[in-house]
Amino acid sequence: MATPRIPLVRDTIDQQDLDALADWLRGNPRLTKGPLCDDFEAAFAKWQGCHHALYVNSGSSANLLAVDVLICAGKLAPGDRVIAPAVSWTTTVAPISQLRCVPVLCDADEFTLGLDLVHLEHLAKTTGAKALMLCHVLGIPNPMDEILALCREYDLILIEDCCEALGSTYKGTTVGNFGSLSTFSFYFGHHMSTVEGGMVCTNDKTYEPLIRSLRSHGWNRDLDEDTKLALRAKHDVDPFTDQYTFYYPGYNFRGTDVGAFLGLRQLEKVSGFVEGRERIWHDYQARFAAAAWQPAAPEGSMVSAFAYPMLSPDRTALAAALGAAGVETRPLICGSVGRQPWFVERHGAVALPHADRIHTNGMYVPINPDLTADEVAEVASLCLDAPKGSVRGTAESSA
Ligand SMILES: Cc1ncc(COP(=O)(O)O)c(C=O)c1O
Repeated sequence: MATPRIPLVRDTIDQQDLDALADWLRGNPRLTKGPLCDDFEAAFAKWQGCHHALYVNSGSSANLLAVDVLICAGKLAPGDRVIAPAVSWTTTVAPISQLRCVPVLCDADEFTLGLDLVHLEHLAKTTGAKALMLCHVLGIPNPMDEILALCREYDLILIEDCCEALGSTYKGTTVGNFGSLSTFSFYFGHHMSTVEGGMVCTNDKTYEPLIRSLRSHGWNRDLDEDTKLALRAKHDVDPFTDQYTFYYPGYNFRGTDVGAFLGLRQLEKVSGFVEGRERIWHDYQARFAAAAWQPAAPEGSMVSAFAYPMLSPDRTALAAALGAAGVETRPLICGSVGRQPWFVERHGAVALPHADRIHTNGMYVPINPDLTADEVAEVASLCLDAPKGSVRGTAESSA
């Protein structure tokens, strides 16, 4: 397939990054997880404004660790219900199911694409859920005041999937700093890239060593001396045996120093990437004022947008027209996870009015920090003036 003229993604790793990487590699450095991973984690934690950031090999691994750490900490048990957004990414919800908890899907808000607060309250009240996983879809923050109030009222532990929302803020706080745990993706095309990669963040000092251990086979090698010794003493393990003693049922989700090298360089530029994405979001919002439906961010929020969403009465036709014009598009992420084959087979289909509409009509067009104002204008007019599937209309006509 020919490279699209206006692609969804333009690589944030540039020639200078690659030259620097090549120079570094010539010094024969350690490539697996080593000192640069520690440096990257410290720098990311500083940028994000959290206490602990743990670098992993993907955003999906970060989500799996975030749920599993609650199980290992005894806060969640297999069979417990966890509320999760129907409109999200498959690996926002899949870890709940993989770890044998029960995902309870919450409908999407019609405009923010985040959680529908009325449905969320109903689920919190009626399901006995222990935790809430949310997703800031395409970078649009959820209304956190209301969500935190519901978490307090119904005793829900909050995990924030920020894989599409690095740098977005709600009332001055960066997303990812509201929940007990939050996750980020550094896959190519996300706000910053380490090729593949992700981060789990927390301010909770009991979760931090658990995440470290789960990330690396369940051993205690990466833990601080006191925690290491405490585990050895608890299980009566001698120092030699300790090298291959596995205290938790772990994974191997480690990042590498190669990724961390790139991550450190990306962090130097990330504020610029975030500014660019916010600017383009506003540009699209102005251009799509003539659309039947537009996304809306909650009051007091800043959108570090991953892509720009729209609802088309015939998205197949519109995607084809945009494709013919060289503009790359995608469905609006998973649509409803409640309609995805794996979820339907394992848990049964879930009917949710807003999520279903997004599943059928939702799509997104490119936002990347290098997108020009002319490109935004061109994409918008293609979407508004398409002979079939046009998104033009009045707000009333979108009902
Ligand atoms: C909301 C969300 N969560 C999780 C992920 C998974 O991240 P990764 O691709 O790094 O596994 C993605 C990936 O696009 C995502 O969009």
